[in-house]
Amino acid sequence: MISRSTIDKVFETARVEEVIGEFVQLKKSGSNYKGLSPFSGERSPSFMVSPVKQIWKDFSSGKGGNVVTFLMEQEHYSYPEAIRFLAKKYHIEIEETEQSNEQKHQADERESMFIVSEFARDYFHETLLKTEQGKAIGLSYFKERGFTDETIQKFQLGYSLNEWEAFSSEALNKGYNLKYLESTGLTIVKDDLLSSTGTKQFDRFKGRVMFPIHSMSGRVLGFGGRILTNDKKAAKYLNSPESEIYHKGNVLYGIYYAKQSIAKEDNCFLVEGYTDVISFNQAGIENVVSSSGTALSENQIRLINRLTKNITILFDGDAAGIRASIRGIDLILEQGLNVKVVMFPEGDDPDSFSKKVTSQELKEYLKQNSKDFINFKVALLMEEAQHDPVKKAGLIRDIVVSISKIPDRIQREVYIQECSRIMDISENVLFSELAQIDKKEERDASSRPIQERPSEPILQKTPQFEKVNELQKYEREIIKILLLYGNNEVEFTDFIAGEEAEDPEFQPIKKVKFNNMVSKEIYLNLQDDEVEFTDDTFKNIYFEIIFQLNQDETISVDKLVNHENYEVANLVTTILMDDERHVLSNWERKNIFIRSKKSDLSKMVLDAIYNMRRILIEQKINSLIAEIGVEEERAKIMESIVDYNNLKTRLFERLNRVV
Ligand code: CTP
Ligand code: MN
Repeated sequence: MISRSTIDKVFETARVEEVIGEFVQLKKSGSNYKGLSPFSGERSPSFMVSPVKQIWKDFSSGKGGNVVTFLMEQEHYSYPEAIRFLAKKYHIEIEETEQSNEQKHQADERESMFIVSEFARDYFHETLLKTEQGKAIGLSYFKERGFTDETIQKFQLGYSLNEWEAFSSEALNKGYNLKYLESTGLTIVKDDLLSSTGTKQFDRFKGRVMFPIHSMSGRVLGFGGRILTNDKKAAKYLNSPESEIYHKGNVLYGIYYAKQSIAKEDNCFLVEGYTDVISFNQAGIENVVSSSGTALSENQIRLINRLTKNITILFDGDAAGIRASIRGIDLILEQGLNVKVVMFPEGDDPDSFSKKVTSQELKEYLKQNSKDFINFKVALLMEEAQHDPVKKAGLIRDIVVSISKIPDRIQREVYIQECSRIMDISENVLFSELAQIDKKEERDASSRPIQERPSEPILQKTPQFEKVNELQKYEREIIKILLLYGNNEVEFTDFIAGEEAEDPEFQPIKKVKFNNMVSKEIYLNLQDDEVEFTDDTFKNIYFEIIFQLNQDETISVDKLVNHENYEVANLVTTILMDDERHVLSNWERKNIFIRSKKSDLSKMVLDAIYNMRRILIEQKINSLIAEIGVEEERAKIMESIVDYNNLKTRLFERLNRVV
């Protein structure tokens, strides 16, 4: 693990404008820099870097953060990878903290497996390019398939000699440990009583061309090896076995080369095989990955989901394959991704098709032939069910099940309407089918143990929805005040009215002035009323701020910007950058109102707090009104409503004086 002090040093040294400047052309604009967003293909700049605050914000995609989060977004590094990148750039020595023996052992184990795999990759690649057999058999095979030298280089393709232990002996000679050769699956170890060691070893990939499989960050996790003979009994592809570093369900072939392009194009092409990925890359389409012949697993979908919400599945042109894979797609819909599909002509797969046309034609074909998945499924299945009412009924259910997997309600409705049109069935029938499936889901869910049940959406009805939003507006305002002015000391003017008096009618309103730190004033007020933030991220930020206040009596905005919780860091950045945004579009010249900064801070603080209280009281009253129907409790409820209404009136009085 990288030590805390190294991480601190990296943050102290790294300049966000310098690092981002390597990826984005930045122009000075006031005290900031601006440029074109690297995350979307925009023409006018909405990407902003603040050297003063050491943060960045992309107003077109909503992303933002510090120097590390930029690298995580741009290069898709993990947090430690980003820190290491910066340490290298700024020549900071990385200090590793002591790990427990167990941790160390595991890390060593995995690291050793990576090192062996990377040695194997280089060895196979050299063998392909430099040995007689490699050139005559492996290289000529790749050439025959139309792979260029650059492609072979880029994908680090290789060849494993057709000998029992050429690779294993070489690796052992070079000092690699047999243990790791075996755990990575590169070498198969068998008992052999005749040998002096009691075992003997073989190369798993003997006589195959080799495709290294990379992680998101480019490390070698395993290999796929393709046989070159037409031996019907041997598997065409042999893959590394599951291991500490290679989990088939967690990797996507090609993801390392595709990640940036997927994010940029905001779409991911999914193909079946290694060669499809490689041929597409050669044709200039880089946002392509392969699940290696199986349906996408949940983890693979998650990998894609980090980069884009859109996936386009490319089907080989044989109908049987399509039917088989259609089921798995519901899983993708469930994760909220938009699915499109493209079919290739009978007998072609993406690899063979891409070789028959120009790169331009290929791109055009993909564009012209990509169909929305649900529509595609309807059309495909309708064909066979057309004259068979029983089949058609089954089909309707099938489609509606797919639609029910989509988390977004509005999108669901659109699909129902469309299916009704295509299948010539009334919307009502489809909606009631959907309702039944939903109900069944609910029943199934409620018979499951509590903790497994998905949490209910809180925002259901429109009126409540608006209230929640209004509340969040003030929650945001309070967070903003805390971030910008929390450490300031200010004179507050408050009006203490009836609620503190025995009889409000006769108690004169008192005007009081006092000094307090903005953060403390907010804290005390919210604590008094036991107010809790409804928005989870605001709540997190607020807790963090209170924690800081308890520890150091001051708020450290830096720590929040660099917070390990991505949502916290991102939202803090957004709020801090709010005020910079006008620079981008000359808002001032267009006379758009921007609040002058410190103008009456005390008013701003009390305004936000009182408004928040007002909304909470209104909500309480509304929920009481909803309860009135219950006969026995009516009198008590009415009494509470009156109490709350009084409270609200007094609050309004205070609010009016303050505002
Ligand atoms: N696959 C596998 N094991 C097999 C066959 C296939 O792991 N015995 C996986 C491979 O990842 C392969 C993918 O499934 O790339 C698709 O299979 P297929 O279409 O048969 O292979 P292609 O990629 O088209 O390979 P080629 O063009 O060399 O025939
Ligand atoms: Mn294929």
